[in-house]
Amino acid sequence: MNKSNIHLILLAILGLSLWSCKAKDNFPGLEYAPNMYNSVPYEGLSQITDKSQGMWLSNREDGLGEFFNSNINNDHNMNMREPVTNTVKRTDGGYLPYRIPKDSADYAGRVLVNPTDSTAEVLADGKALFNIYCSACHGPTGNGDGAVGKVFLGVPPYNLGRVKELPEGQIFHTITYGRGRMMSHASQVAVEDRWKIARYVHVLQNQN
Ligand code: HEC
Repeated sequence: MNKSNIHLILLAILGLSLWSCKAKDNFPGLEYAPNMYNSVPYEGLSQITDKSQGMWLSNREDGLGEFFNSNINNDHNMNMREPVTNTVKRTDGGYLPYRIPKDSADYAGRVLVNPTDSTAEVLADGKALFNIYCSACHGPTGNGDGAVGKVFLGVPPYNLGRVKELPEGQIFHTITYGRGRMMSHASQVAVEDRWKIARYVHVLQNQN
């Protein structure tokens, strides 16, 4: 066998081995050392049950094998357990999640209705919450003259111009998302409390 024949044979072997790696349909191609691609430890959101990807623990008596990243102790070889029925939180303190997008403040003002009752008690709660969360900037009477508001600048008085006319739904929206330099208060103020505050802000809008 001369030298060029050996080259040809080597080339053919190389060609064949590359061809055999071809991915087809659902088959991703032969993986060399699959534990370098697929994590051997369990990962919450992935599970590999394809037997052709190599068995991790084999020859169990019950015929089951444990494959990369799949947990034979759970249904469907899943790694994460499914939550117990009714354990997924679907409401925020009895309210549906707020889905109106940030840029739709006008829309929120048109469609949302304050679900709290118009009682002295609700108003008193709203005032107390307002004094905790808002008055530092907006001032105790909503004139924008709170201690922080004086240096923060750009805090509008509630009882003038466009802000005076804002419906409660839009105030709720502003508390939820913030606006301009005012940040969102959604993480501090519960949904029901935001509506109580909106009621109180509405009172401040109407003062002279
Ligand atoms: C850190 C200061 C700060 C705090 C705290 C703050 N705000 Fe504001 N707020 C602002 C500023 C600044 C603006 C003006 C935003 C703009 O128009 O760019 C504003 C605007 C508003 C407006 C008018 C929105 C509009 O459409 O023009 C309302 C209503 C309002 N805030 C309500 C609240 C309420 C209710 C709270 C308490 C939950 C609160 N703010 C807390 C700074 C603050």
